[in-house]
Amino acid sequence: MGFPLERPRRLRATPALRSLTAQTRLDPARLVLPLFVKEGLRSPAPVASMPGVVQHTVPSLVEAAEEAVAAGVGGLMLFGVPAVRDARGSGADDPEGVLNTGLRAVAQAVGDAAVVMADLCLDEFTDHGHCGVLDAAGRVDNDATLERYRSTALAQAAAGASLLGLSGMMDGQVGAVRAVLDAEGRSDVVLLAYAAKYASAFYGPFRDAVDSALTGDRRSYQMEPGNRREGLREVRLDVAEGADVVMVKPALPYLDVLSDVAAAVDVPVWAYQVSGEYAMVEAAAANGWIDRERAVLESLLSIQRAGASATLTYWAAEVATLLRRG
Ligand code: PBG
Repeated sequence: MGFPLERPRRLRATPALRSLTAQTRLDPARLVLPLFVKEGLRSPAPVASMPGVVQHTVPSLVEAAEEAVAAGVGGLMLFGVPAVRDARGSGADDPEGVLNTGLRAVAQAVGDAAVVMADLCLDEFTDHGHCGVLDAAGRVDNDATLERYRSTALAQAAAGASLLGLSGMMDGQVGAVRAVLDAEGRSDVVLLAYAAKYASAFYGPFRDAVDSALTGDRRSYQMEPGNRREGLREVRLDVAEGADVVMVKPALPYLDVLSDVAAAVDVPVWAYQVSGEYAMVEAAAANGWIDRERAVLESLLSIQRAGASATLTYWAAEVATLLRRG
């Protein structure tokens, strides 16, 4: 051969060498655990399409939150499942609503040991299941929805959320919420924009987890799966409106978007490994078709490699425990 043979395999010879030369490593503090709290439950209720995930009572929510924090998880993202829904999603900004009740309990229990986050959206609270309120023609009314988001943001901040996850994909939602928080003396509250959120089949199991009432789809506000450049556009708008962190969602099917976004912005970029991503691995593993633990870790590593500095994942507590055990 007329050239020196390169031997990259030299660096793969031992576990110690591999560790010392690894470009990407998982870290419990970069994981966020999504949790569901349901009104009127007597005991935790399993979510059929997400084995290992439950809808919590308020006490079991607090217990799960404390366990996850003890395992080293960096954040907790709370979703509420109300007993009663209406057209305007009244439960979302009701201080006694199930999500705000759960936030208060968790914030008090974990303090600053992890970041307590709230999903800021209306879909769990509306009887039609959309992320916003509807106009007379039955379309999602962008600007009327912003009014509901403002009020919900104040209620969630008052309940103890230190970060709000704006997942509704309304135009102008970040700016609207930032403005009202600042005006009410809550400029401390961090805004996470679900900036590039695609209309995805991978949210299917989540709709079970929140007993979703939706019959149609969300294609008039969530993004078309084929649109890569538009992901950058949505992110640019959210950053301009004051987003502190931007997110790409789902994760694994959108690693190209994640990589683009991480290269384009100077705010932190997170990813959401969604319910369907979780369910796929769990289902394959339950059939003995895949090595569960390796698949879980590899998927999370890939998301981080593509550019996420933190990831929301239903495996957060388990993976944190695994990583600490080494
Ligand atoms: C909207 C919201 C959804 C998810 C997170 N926030 C549902 C949707 O957009 O249909 C999905 C998360 C998942 O699938 O794990 N509040």
